[in-house]
Amino acid sequence: MSDTTDAALELAGKHVLLGLSGGIACYKAAELCRLLVKAGATVQVVMTEAAERFITPVTMQALSNRAVYTSQWDAREPNNMPHINLGREADAILVAPASADLMAQLAQGRASDLLTLLCLARPLATTPLLLAPAMNREMWAHPATQRNAAQLVADGAFVLPVGQGDQACGETGDGRMLEPEELLQELVAHFQPKVLRGQHVLVTAGPTFEAMDPVRGVTNHSSGKMGFAVARAAREAGADVTLVAGPVHLPTPRGVHRVNVQSAEQMHEAVMGRLHEASVFVATAAVADWRPAAAAGQKIKKAANGAPPAVAFVENPDILAEAAATERARNGQLFCVGFAAESHDLAEHAKAKRARKGVPLLVGNIGPATFGRDDNALLLVDEHGTEALPPGPKTVLARQLVVEIARRMKG
Ligand code: C5P
Repeated sequence: MSDTTDAALELAGKHVLLGLSGGIACYKAAELCRLLVKAGATVQVVMTEAAERFITPVTMQALSNRAVYTSQWDAREPNNMPHINLGREADAILVAPASADLMAQLAQGRASDLLTLLCLARPLATTPLLLAPAMNREMWAHPATQRNAAQLVADGAFVLPVGQGDQACGETGDGRMLEPEELLQELVAHFQPKVLRGQHVLVTAGPTFEAMDPVRGVTNHSSGKMGFAVARAAREAGADVTLVAGPVHLPTPRGVHRVNVQSAEQMHEAVMGRLHEASVFVATAAVADWRPAAAAGQKIKKAANGAPPAVAFVENPDILAEAAATERARNGQLFCVGFAAESHDLAEHAKAKRARKGVPLLVGNIGPATFGRDDNALLLVDEHGTEALPPGPKTVLARQLVVEIARRMKG
């Protein structure tokens, strides 16, 4: 199985119109363009006159591999209507940066240049418009801008959140454009079907760490990547997502609420305290089966005779089995999904584990083949039998799994 990067081709087959209006954040649009192309999209850049003051069309042409449009009078289009053609070709229009003035123009339905023209002329039903605002914090907070943003949302545009922090003007606050990587994630998410809208998904991920003393403990090789991918996919599918994560150093997927824990007992407590608000529980965590019966308060010192310490273990709570046995799970208000990491006879072991845990859906994978990697292959086991999701990036498999969960919940 080859290891591909997570971002690989997430926008394959998509044609994105990237619009730039005037703002210092134009410099970030160059990196965004590169990321979109790297993710497999074709990108048509359109710039306003003000944007050209901040970055040149030469840069954007080189990065997008296409001539940039800057004027509605561009005669390259045979019908001389770039404002019609460009919007019709696009799967989405992303304006980044979207200046306060551009948003004001769009909110009023004005069309004084090519970018505002093509936004106004886009087919509302088929060409989504995403705006990444970028401006000084006072401009962003101004009632006029907030009014325009609300109007744009009411008119069917997607106004993305702004970032917070240092601004080019030296002030600090809300109004920065999201980072290119965040904008890429927003766009990828936008294209995912909203099959879990209205659901609250609780996910566990990563290993647990069972302390022996203040400096040592027992853990395992789980990277957390599969669980983080499930949390991200559920969020992209429109769910509210809480991710209870063991000790891993992975970035929190956008829009996901993360709760960090160390031990199985902490994970158990974090999950049980949140099950009442969840409609789906996906247990991807590799929870340690046992923990040292008592963690020493101080570092255990070597014995003079070299004898190793005698460490007694006790069993950890089975979080998944307990969740599946709750009243809400039994009467269908909570859909529980378990994972099984096996080394052989996957179907047989996964079926047995599904029965033992009492869950409607059990997902099997070969542990040693996937620990720490970006790729995986899944075997879904439910009451009807087994279904294989072929090898691919964990992000892709997670999206497929989310669709399978939604389908089974409907059923
Ligand atoms: O019990 P076993 O590790 O074989 O089963 C794996 C599944 O059970 C996974 O979904 C895992 O997250 C969950 N599990 C759990 N609590 C445990 C052990 C496993 O939730 N203590």
